[in-house]
Amino acid sequence: MMLQDRVGEVREQFERIFGTRPQTVVRAPGRVELLGNHTDYNEGFVLPAAISMDVLAAGSLRDDEVVAAYSANFDTLVAFPLSSIEKDQVNTWSNYVRGVLHFLKESGVRLQGVNMAISGNVPVGSGLSSSAAIEMAVGFLMQTLIGFEMSGPDLALIGQRAENEFVGVSTGIMDQFVSRLGRKDHALFLDCRTLGYEQVPLETKAIKIVVCDTMKRRGLVDSEYDQRRAQCEEAARLLSQWIPNVRALRDVSKEDFELYKDRLPEVIRKRAQHVIYENERVLKSREVLNVGDYDAFARLLDECHESARDLYEVSCAELDTMVEVSRQAPGAMCARLTGAGFGGCTVSLVRDEQVDAFVDTVRAGYAERTGVTPSIYVCTAEDGASVVQQ
Ligand code: GLA
Repeated sequence: MMLQDRVGEVREQFERIFGTRPQTVVRAPGRVELLGNHTDYNEGFVLPAAISMDVLAAGSLRDDEVVAAYSANFDTLVAFPLSSIEKDQVNTWSNYVRGVLHFLKESGVRLQGVNMAISGNVPVGSGLSSSAAIEMAVGFLMQTLIGFEMSGPDLALIGQRAENEFVGVSTGIMDQFVSRLGRKDHALFLDCRTLGYEQVPLETKAIKIVVCDTMKRRGLVDSEYDQRRAQCEEAARLLSQWIPNVRALRDVSKEDFELYKDRLPEVIRKRAQHVIYENERVLKSREVLNVGDYDAFARLLDECHESARDLYEVSCAELDTMVEVSRQAPGAMCARLTGAGFGGCTVSLVRDEQVDAFVDTVRAGYAERTGVTPSIYVCTAEDGASVVQQ
């Protein structure tokens, strides 16, 4: 469905539930991680892009202190007072709304009651950051309605805290940041330590970003994710004994790593190697994209998959199969897993004139090898959070 139709639909849903028209409608997108796999929580570099799948939020201020939030996806309405924002054990989707409001309030924003209707088409649980999209949609809706001052990076940090501390899922800053600050026809280069960022041209007319969903939901992801984080912290701690000024893996150059890597236990060495070389790939990607060298960019994505699979060990049979099938399909320039891993999606760069053949070949090839028909999304790089209707 086109954006305008979806906006019309969420406005109607708002009117049906609340009996008035919404004051505004905003959107915040999901994202695809092009490069920067598991580097964000190591204070490193990432290169995601915002995509066209998004969460729409229609809203109006109320004159009391109550928040009423309707989810079109769950066809459920929740209501709670701003004075006591508690976790909801039943309507767990609403915890993203509650968490963002909680941390906005905690950061000193004077909130007002609000009616909102939320509707998203980012597939849930497939690694395209539907949760960051809802967090940024709610945050941006509140900012648009109330008009408080808050920078994009600060709103992203509010979303990350909501996810980490309120919902209770540990993540880095990449997803919320690009959902808020992505730009059409650009990838976003972000330094996750300083939150300095740069829009890097990514022309998606000639080359499409194609996301292939293995349909395997990311089962073990939470415990494995936390374990990887702990292993990276351990690697940084060990390396800091021999290399000065190491606070996080971000601070380890590949030259220093090569000097000391043999002193690390094998698993810790593999995790560190992935992160340190992945940071290098992200820095390199900014250079090659700035000169439009898409072949070099594609090679970096391929290398990223090998490293995520063999060193960071976050791939799985389904992701590896999708990568193999994709790399052999017409128009394919590269393929890698994207996001946390253990299921979810791969991302490929595909020459535009062969996109249809690519999609058909991958759909049939993956189905033949696994018995499962994948969902495939042909994406372009889109703007981050924005107002779609006043
Ligand atoms: C998940 C997290 C991100 C990032 C990726 C791995 O998507 O939400 O913050 O850590 O995994 O790169």
